[in-house]
Amino acid sequence: MTSMDVPLTKSNLTPNEDDHFAMVVDFRSDTLTKPTKKMREAMFNAEVGDDVFDEDPTVKILQEKAAKMVGMEAALFVSSGTMGNLIAIMNHCNVRGCEAFCGESAHCLLHEQCGASQLAGVGLRPLRNNDDGTFNIHELESKLHKDRDHEPLSKLVLVENTLNGKIIPQNWIKQLVSFCKEHSLKLHMDGARLWNASIGSNRPAKEIVSGFDSVSFCLSKALGAPAGSLLCGSKEFIINARRVRKVLGGGMRQVGILAAAGLIALENIPALKEDHRRASILASSINEMQSKVFSVDLNTVQTNMVFVKVDSNIVPATTFAKRLREHDDDKIVVKCLAVNNWIARFVFSFEITDDELTLAIKKIKRVISQLDPNL
Ligand SMILES: Cc1ncc(COP(=O)(O)O)c(C=O)c1O
Repeated sequence: MTSMDVPLTKSNLTPNEDDHFAMVVDFRSDTLTKPTKKMREAMFNAEVGDDVFDEDPTVKILQEKAAKMVGMEAALFVSSGTMGNLIAIMNHCNVRGCEAFCGESAHCLLHEQCGASQLAGVGLRPLRNNDDGTFNIHELESKLHKDRDHEPLSKLVLVENTLNGKIIPQNWIKQLVSFCKEHSLKLHMDGARLWNASIGSNRPAKEIVSGFDSVSFCLSKALGAPAGSLLCGSKEFIINARRVRKVLGGGMRQVGILAAAGLIALENIPALKEDHRRASILASSINEMQSKVFSVDLNTVQTNMVFVKVDSNIVPATTFAKRLREHDDDKIVVKCLAVNNWIARFVFSFEITDDELTLAIKKIKRVISQLDPNL
């Protein structure tokens, strides 16, 4: 980010009802960022037109740029990651009775209300995820349907990258691409955090998605835009995607206002490296304590997410999260998400500075030493 491109409103020292005059360090999600000053200025100055008429110049610039960045022919601005994934599924599975495969931890399976089934009439078949975020290609092969009268048509495979902060190994992606070509299966990447995968692996996004039929990525996750995702693919795919977007109510008018913020968000990609660095610092600081109750598997800390494993027999992660939010004399409030009773999630974005991280670590360490009976 340039020196001008600073968060406009910091949540620090916010006089909220809960957090009156405390330093709040909020790790719940990388979607919590507020548009920067530079973004708001770009939004104010954006040239706009009716995008349903395909006449918004700023949207067009964003779409062309996005397509180029991922090495695909065309792109479409959509309102959200969920919409991008759903349009891709509806587009690839364009006859009745189709099925799509994805990892069992995939966002499109667990956190998008199963829109594939609910709205697209497509069955989502989960495959067991390995620790590195891949799934077994032999398992996929064993589940493919070929008998057309009795079974759904196996049409599509979905890969999420990053998956819970983990970068999907590129050699596996290559094997999957060849497998899908061989079996005439379409491939879509849910790249909500594609740029974290790219920066974290030092690999151009083009290379990561090479061989995929489509990819969607978000502008509002760690990149600071208030909304918007890009769905990219071939020209023909995007023509059809526009049509599907319309029936989902996703045709927006002078949406160059949002696209202008999106263009600034793309400038923020190199800064993701800082989020990754800070995530590693947090993970190592927790492990330094050598707690048997709270620990992080450092292999999983590859981008901007830290999942703290909590021994729920001693203390549930919900208690850990609740305790971090409480005020102490030092007035530091740390917010994280207890995913369940045994995992607390911490996500980084550019709004969390080094100084805030230092204070947050102080609080986290103090809470851990209070909750772990052996420390
Ligand atoms: C991996 C992944 N895919 C898709 C989405 C959906 O994005 P949106 O919230 O913009 O619909 C999310 C949201 O967190 C996500 O993490």
